[in-house]
Amino acid sequence: MSILIENIKELMQVEGTPRLLVKGKEMSKIATIKDAFLFIKDGKISAFGKMSELNKDEILFSTSDIQVINATGRMVFPSFVDSHTHLVYPASREIEYIDKIKGLSYEEIARRGGGILNSAKLMQDASEDELVESSLKRLNEIIRYGTGAVEIKSGYGLTVDSELKMLRVIKRLKHLSPLTIKATFLGAHSIPLEYRGNQTKYVDTVINEMLPQAAEENLADYIDVFCDTGFFTVEDTERILEAGMKYNIRGKIHANELDYSGGIQAGVKYNALSVDHLEFTGKKEIEALLKSETMPTVLPGAAFFLGMRYAPVREMMDAGLPVALASDFNPGSSPSGNMQLIVSMACILYKMLPEEAINATTINTAYAMGISDKLGSIAVGKKANVFITSEIPTYEYMPYYYGTNKVETVILNGEVIN
Ligand code: NIG
Ligand code: FE
Repeated sequence: MSILIENIKELMQVEGTPRLLVKGKEMSKIATIKDAFLFIKDGKISAFGKMSELNKDEILFSTSDIQVINATGRMVFPSFVDSHTHLVYPASREIEYIDKIKGLSYEEIARRGGGILNSAKLMQDASEDELVESSLKRLNEIIRYGTGAVEIKSGYGLTVDSELKMLRVIKRLKHLSPLTIKATFLGAHSIPLEYRGNQTKYVDTVINEMLPQAAEENLADYIDVFCDTGFFTVEDTERILEAGMKYNIRGKIHANELDYSGGIQAGVKYNALSVDHLEFTGKKEIEALLKSETMPTVLPGAAFFLGMRYAPVREMMDAGLPVALASDFNPGSSPSGNMQLIVSMACILYKMLPEEAINATTINTAYAMGISDKLGSIAVGKKANVFITSEIPTYEYMPYYYGTNKVETVILNGEVIN
């Protein structure tokens, strides 16, 4: 099956020589082709260019099963890559949302056994089938908003059985969904109440019981720790990242959301693929990141929803760093996986240019998922995960006209998704 998209108003994020990430000043540049075509074959991007260069007869004669899409007035983007979510969860938590409106902080809610522990309690009784069904609905929702690849974390289990259950659910989702999915083991998401005062013992369980089983069943692509005040310490984090390395599982950690926790430096020290949140990022943290291969990832949805300070994205880019932006889709701090909204938030709240926000939600998040050789831009040989917009005047209109879905047609693995 092949697809020829012709008369594309503007084809976004094209690359002759594909890069693995974009950093510093380069983030404000996006290569595009106006009045373009895109040819997709066997699930991959096969060719693209200006309409004037299209040899349509040759393509039609050489391809038997071909669908031609006329994209007049519409743009084509590489699908968004969402490198940080917790979208497998047992139930929504709008009651806490009301508590937050009334003035309780995220940490106060957590201390009362709410927050992550609330989800963990409900997770004990949720069946794998129920979780697969509700998660698939969320995956289908984000597909319609233009996401083509997503990372999903465990972390609402917090017992050996429940963490493995979550990871097995994610493994099933990999087979059931057309999305490219990576699984991250987040046993160290919160300290269960029965381990309070003895948190090292819980970290032992994560390292000695959960991780070996997850590795044995090949359930985890990455490993995560919530390294922050009131959660896991730098020492806990380093132990867990080191344990992951023994199984060749790289870190993607929650760091510096609530304080200058040392999480960023710990992530860098253990060559984490990404450090995420980063509201508390200063000079030292930026310096550590500059010497690393770790992708700084900011989660605007969580900062917005919790009314927190915003990560110093401009300083980070000015210093020459790359920045990635993900949704953090979860029931407590970011109940949305809409990456179009993340792009708008990036522009409005972080004063990022649309080009910077697009790079941060495509190629750089692909890097933060370890898949930027296959996704995150329009390049020959990359997986054909793209979307066609509705009729829009400019690409800047995407973040500007926020709150509505501008994605009209989704193509994943070279097939139109209905
Ligand atoms: O990324 N910061 C830690 N974990 C999640 C919140 C999960 C929850 O509240 O359920 C986050 O924001
Ligand atoms: Fe998170």
